[in-house]
Amino acid sequence: MLVGSDPAADRAGAGPRVLAPPAGARPALGRRGPFQDGERAVFVDPKQRRYLVALRAGSSFHTHAGIVHHDAVIGREEGSTVTGTTGRRFLVLRPTLADVVLKMPRGAQVIYPKDLGAIVVGADIGPGARVLEAGVGSGALSMAMLRAGADVLGYELRQDFAERAVANVSTWLGEVPYRVELRDVYDGIAATGLDRIVLDLPEPWRVLPHAAGALRPGGILLAYLPTINQTATLRDALSRSPFALAETWEVLRRTWHVEARSVRPDHRMVAHTGFLTVARLVVPDADGAADGVPAGGAHTDAVPGDALPGDAVPAVEAAAATPERAQAGTWGREGAGTADGGRQGGEPPDGSEQA
Ligand SMILES: C[S@@+](CC[C@H](N)C(=O)[O-])C[C@H]1O[C@@H](n2cnc3c(N)ncnc32)[C@H](O)[C@@H]1O
Repeated sequence: MLVGSDPAADRAGAGPRVLAPPAGARPALGRRGPFQDGERAVFVDPKQRRYLVALRAGSSFHTHAGIVHHDAVIGREEGSTVTGTTGRRFLVLRPTLADVVLKMPRGAQVIYPKDLGAIVVGADIGPGARVLEAGVGSGALSMAMLRAGADVLGYELRQDFAERAVANVSTWLGEVPYRVELRDVYDGIAATGLDRIVLDLPEPWRVLPHAAGALRPGGILLAYLPTINQTATLRDALSRSPFALAETWEVLRRTWHVEARSVRPDHRMVAHTGFLTVARLVVPDADGAADGVPAGGAHTDAVPGDALPGDAVPAVEAAAATPERAQAGTWGREGAGTADGGRQGGEPPDGSEQA
């Protein structure tokens, strides 16, 4: 079942504008067999640069390294090698979700694959999970969660971004349980009984008052933020809310150069993308404390394997958070001036889709 907010109001024309993939849309991801006319392929050159190409009979792919005729690819198996006009060879494969996210058309800046994986596991997104996502931007996070089997309702401020997200989702995943409503999530959440709320917008603390009424007890809220200033403000708000077990982390992905006897970390890496914060909605006890853990009380991973994520553990970090709270009121909100927290636009690291 698709999560919805107020279908009766929508039918009456009183609700927000709603966008969704068209019925019967066929997914471009996950195909098998020889390449067919009309589908997408990734061309990988000898320097391992990747190009996303929509195959069309009679067309060709042009690079500074020569021309590859699409007809040389159509009908071939994935993993084949084709030769361009200058003799340069290209490996042809079907794109993965990570390829798509980095190269698909975008409006807002997308969340990178390294963080998408962490969000899917950190927010425990699985089949049938009823997820509210705000804002949807280009739809990269929507795709990761839909692919994990979730039922996703998106709130998005901008119609052009909502249209882009729905177009990306329908192109790559086909007809999936996804709808995007043109709404400001700071104004409220009409849906109830949600399992998860996932936020990628500048001021997630403004969503907390509505989130507590929209999530079911035990539900998970996850926010993705580009700066630690914003993260500290969120943690402060969480510490005064019915959410517990708050935890913040970032994902550093360092690739390695592996060649003969030269085995070392690569010189370059994407040093920083964003901070992830999760917390769980709990039923406050008579003292207003949350499940034996002070509201916003911490879970710690200090001793690997000491506890499963989500196990109640002593809130050893609660005191350490106090100085931050004291300062939070004076801290700036870098990135909060734009709707995407300073992440809007931005080029993909290695080019966009070639149609
Ligand atoms: C960084 S983008 C999200 C990118 C998305 N996670 C992805 O992976 O493609 C932030 C989005 O939040 C939207 N947004 C900002 N404030 C909002 C609000 N109050 N309600 C709904 N959407 C909002 C912006 O319009 C923008 O599309």
